[in-house]
Amino acid sequence: MEKTNDNKMEKIISLAKRRGFVYQSAEIYGGLAGSFDYGPLGAELMFNIKDLWWRTFVSGREDMYGLASSLMMPEAVWQASGHLDGFTDPMVECKKCKRRFRADHIENTKECPECKGELGEEKTFNLMFPVELGSTEGETSRAYLRGENAQGMFVNFKNILDSFHPKLPFGIAQIGKSFRNEISPRDFLFRVREFDLAEFEYFVRESDWEKTFEYWKEEMWKWVDAVGINKESVHELEVPENDRAHYSKRTVDFEFDYPFGRKELYGLAYRTDHDLKAHMEHSKVSLEYLDDSTGERFIPHVVEPTFGMGRTLLAVLVSAYTEEEVKEGEKRIVLKFKKSIAPVKVAISPLLKNKEALAGKAREVFDMVRKEIPQIMYDDNGNIGKRYRRQDEIGTPYCVVIDFDTLEDDTVTVRDRDTMKQERVKIDELLKYLDFSG
Ligand code: GAP
Repeated sequence: MEKTNDNKMEKIISLAKRRGFVYQSAEIYGGLAGSFDYGPLGAELMFNIKDLWWRTFVSGREDMYGLASSLMMPEAVWQASGHLDGFTDPMVECKKCKRRFRADHIENTKECPECKGELGEEKTFNLMFPVELGSTEGETSRAYLRGENAQGMFVNFKNILDSFHPKLPFGIAQIGKSFRNEISPRDFLFRVREFDLAEFEYFVRESDWEKTFEYWKEEMWKWVDAVGINKESVHELEVPENDRAHYSKRTVDFEFDYPFGRKELYGLAYRTDHDLKAHMEHSKVSLEYLDDSTGERFIPHVVEPTFGMGRTLLAVLVSAYTEEEVKEGEKRIVLKFKKSIAPVKVAISPLLKNKEALAGKAREVFDMVRKEIPQIMYDDNGNIGKRYRRQDEIGTPYCVVIDFDTLEDDTVTVRDRDTMKQERVKIDELLKYLDFSG
């Protein structure tokens, strides 16, 4: 791993913790490997990313149906989908220290990378998390935490047909948690055991899959740009057959240049009619689509764009993280988020904390702005220079300062995060002045 990049990841992880974006889960108990909690700013940032995704791919389109299905689903679902047999990673276990590793992630599959002990035979390891339901012993039934959101869409396919009678092509979408018992979670938010996933199943006639695949590939590129991921750091990878998921006939991955290497960000898969066909066979319920105009009945095919939300947040942080020399010998760290997704949009400060008249006026401006822009912060900690540095570090697009002139002429200073330029703006023109389109 390149030293400078390695360093960049450490800096981002440390900033994320210091400023309340991401914490290790249950840290006071030593943490849980592969689990992270979003702090106040991380939660707002994630909310904004998901909100943008939902508006882009679901509520902003007429051909998409939103869904929020259960996280626990019966064993039969996963039997039918092939996840109980095919959702596996190759694993090796050290005979001495008993640690487990992804066989495809280590270079020497004979020697333990931790203790140099002898590694056992390669085995397949299933990633699904079983849960036993029921409170009386002997009366349990097995369910699984979902390993992908997609199955919620397939098992609700008939419900959507019956409720809405959609015409092909159309999609069913959801955002929510997925769970995978990863053998070796690592690289911060990149590989964890529970993660937010946004995906949709787009149903088409078989003959239309290729053009649909190209269409969604382009839309995914537009999303990358809209959410604030550096496009030059994203690369398409045609996934070879032996690396594709068991359900896919074609997969293109969108890879991102993380500081720890080029790895998967998103996926786009052609799932054929694999899932609907399997659920129809196992459930004995017809999942055919009826074309009213021709009377044809058939099982639609599926193109599936999938977006890990944790990886999105990580790629957004990596893309936004900038170190700049402000003047000779003075540096600033700034998160150059797209203004529309910044977790705090505006910080409002009195120039001096303990001058009552300034604080009173600042509160007035704060209340006025908050009615229109909920993600704002009242910041009167430290001196103004320190406040600017802190707000830069959390990516706040605008800092508004109330000073003695404000009391005379009802104008405030507005500082722009990226240019650091300051302008005097009339209070009654402030809301119009603040621009979050970039
Ligand atoms: N329904 C298709 C599907 O689940 P996938 O490639 O297995 O496809 C989808 O996963 C996306 O979920 C990936 O592109 C990635 O963004 C994210 N993802 C997968 N495993 C993850 C993990 N262990 N931690 C964080 N994100 C993960």
